[in-house]
Amino acid sequence: MSEVVKLERHDNIAVVTVNSPPVNALSAAVRAGIFDCIKSAIDDAQVQGIVLTCAGRTFIAGADITEFGKPPKPPGLADVLSLMESSPKPIVAAIHGTALGGGLEVALACHYRVATKDAKLGLPEVKLGLLPGAGGTQRLPRAVGPELAVKMIVGGDPIGADAALKAGLIEEIVEGPASGGEAFARKVVAEKRPLRKLRDDDSKLAAAKADRSIFTNAVAALTKKSRGLEAPFAAADAVGAAIDLPFEEGLKKEREGFLKLMNGDQSKAQRYAFFAEREAAKISGVPDGTKSRNVARVAILGAGTMGGGIAMSFVNAGIPVTLIETGEEQLKRGMGIMQKNYEATAARGGIPADAPAKRMALINGVVGIENVGDADLVIEAVFETMAVKKEVFGKLDQYAKPGAVLASNTSYLNIDEIAQSTKRPQDVLGMHFFSPANVMKLCEIVRADKTAPDALVTAVSIARKIAKVPAVVGVCDGFVGNRMLAQRGKQSEKLLFEGALPQQVDAVVTKFGMPMGPFAMGDLAGLDIGWRSRKDRGIKSEIADALCEAGRFGQKTGKGYYKYEPGSRSALPDPEVEKLIDETLARLGRKKRVVSDDEILERMMYPMINEGAKILAEGIAARPSDIDVVWLYGYGWPIYRGGPMFWADTVGLKHIADRLAFYAKETNDPSLEPAPLLRKLADEGKTFASLAAASKAA
Ligand code: 3HC
Ligand code: NAI
Repeated sequence: MSEVVKLERHDNIAVVTVNSPPVNALSAAVRAGIFDCIKSAIDDAQVQGIVLTCAGRTFIAGADITEFGKPPKPPGLADVLSLMESSPKPIVAAIHGTALGGGLEVALACHYRVATKDAKLGLPEVKLGLLPGAGGTQRLPRAVGPELAVKMIVGGDPIGADAALKAGLIEEIVEGPASGGEAFARKVVAEKRPLRKLRDDDSKLAAAKADRSIFTNAVAALTKKSRGLEAPFAAADAVGAAIDLPFEEGLKKEREGFLKLMNGDQSKAQRYAFFAEREAAKISGVPDGTKSRNVARVAILGAGTMGGGIAMSFVNAGIPVTLIETGEEQLKRGMGIMQKNYEATAARGGIPADAPAKRMALINGVVGIENVGDADLVIEAVFETMAVKKEVFGKLDQYAKPGAVLASNTSYLNIDEIAQSTKRPQDVLGMHFFSPANVMKLCEIVRADKTAPDALVTAVSIARKIAKVPAVVGVCDGFVGNRMLAQRGKQSEKLLFEGALPQQVDAVVTKFGMPMGPFAMGDLAGLDIGWRSRKDRGIKSEIADALCEAGRFGQKTGKGYYKYEPGSRSALPDPEVEKLIDETLARLGRKKRVVSDDEILERMMYPMINEGAKILAEGIAARPSDIDVVWLYGYGWPIYRGGPMFWADTVGLKHIADRLAFYAKETNDPSLEPAPLLRKLADEGKTFASLAAASKAA
């Protein structure tokens, strides 16, 4: 009947199968196909029950996100669902894989649901800056009660089949979706079970109607971390409407909220981020069909801050690790920190009570680099010195198995130079994780001059396997993220010399949506590291040096750009710092002026975008969206602003280039002159997105 939806009749049961790879998204063709097939099944006098199921790897994973923002094509999903719910013949949704968003909403409009054991069911729209727009906010609370519904809708995380069964979201767990769905439908027909329409069943809403705190407490807990985001609050309102209003009115309220969010800037940015993340996993310039090497065991050199976090990321994904140190003491310390970290997570209920022991059992802690022999991937996370890295890679040449991928976690050093210390530069690349490595999702995959395509593919695919977001970058000082960050750091210091205070600068940056400002971040990382490095290089930074000379190394000494109460991480403005800045400026004969918040924001953000343009022009990043991925997942860039390059397009490149030129002149700083690529795009009235479109067309 349709290219993507097929109808079969097995005596009195009609089986409607959606087959629209890769994820059976509800495109116009799928909606039309379902509508027509269900209608035919209803009209077929032989049919007494209907099963809706999917071919391929998953049940319907949602609306087709690529259609959002384009003129709607009939039939609308609401029409399809209304036909299904009002069907005089029972419809059973037979779920496998991921029933997400519009997919779960389709299932909720069916009269019964069954699922395979490994199925996941959820309404993740909020992660795209949306709320469920096809009845999900009204039917799910009626299916599972408002408390769990709000958790699934405002939190956006799916639940498994067992939890779905317990909550009454599905009727049964079945072996195969099609066969299990059909058997269940036969049972429904044989037993003449009633048509269960969630729209007519308010029984699970009664408790929240009587005591709304059940709902409001759940919302408060879930939105605690939603600063700046619109969707979680709008989604909570829509669920509230399910409690307060009749079904049809609730649907109307949901629809209004959905359309408002879909047409708003935040969801646009979040949908962009969804595709940017997936695009980043596609490596440009690698021959089609290049296969990943097999990675069964990983060796990690160094059990320090990064080595430990990286090891945890692998074992969390079930991949065994050999963790290598130079001595027993360092090893014991590193293993101890991981153990404590897991125990703390288990105590919070984040992982099962037996998980710490199970995960630690996957880590084989040993002393001596000669133990790398059975690893398919080696990740070096030792001290950040070229001489040490070269020595380590030289030894890897001797001990690592042939064909093993050899990765460095260096933050800044030249991977080409590191690769030269081995006889197998084709196996060498960077895998730059971010601290804390067991939490932060970004992994910059640094492609060196001689890196073999299959080594690169291996790094990207293993990063995805351990739930990281990989972005391929080229060799340069600081790669993409830290190179851009350095520009912001330079300006933040300069702003202090002109009259701004650390707390003013940080407030502007956090108000924008970043988790931390540059000065609070400096205090967290430790100011002494930069101070020592400046001393080694004979460089001065008068204010930062003065702080360190006064013993203010940041959080670890209870004082830095801010002061900290004992045991607290909250940064308190310190009049002593203001005094110290004033004294330094007086000593240097510098005059303070009032620096506006607008200027701070421009000088924090625009130089980074300028650097991003240089990074693109040099081919260090293949696409503007790869830069955005780096910032979203490595530095906490607010997802509702899409990433620095996306945001720059919304601000307008001409404005940014003009302001940079202005600051270059005003502050006598040639490094702020607009990059040639930025200037060119600005002059042509173009965007960074136009570059991505052009490269796709090429
Ligand atoms: N629409 C359009 N394309 C989609 C899509 C969707 N809903 N979901 C996935 N895709 C595409 C991806 O872009 C990717 O394309 P590519 O191969 O060209 O890069 C391909 O499908 C495979 O996706 P993944 O690489 O993400 O595959 P995984 O197996 O890792 O994950 C998934 C599968 C869990 C289904 C994941 O893709 C996902 O989370 N998808 C989004 C689910 C979602 O948010 N659904 C709600 C949509 S909004 C909605 O339904 C509104 C409704 O309430 C009206
Ligand atoms: P760290 O000092 O906490 O840990 C380094 C560990 O390596 C120490 O335990 C040390 O004993 C061990 N080590 C030294 N030489 C070794 C060798 N030959 N074999 C095995 N172990 C050896 O350092 P950290 O912070 O973990 O950094 C490691 C690397 O990661 C550096 O290259 C750093 O630039 C990079 N990095 C650090 C980030 C951070 O925020 N700390 C972020 C991203 C990258």
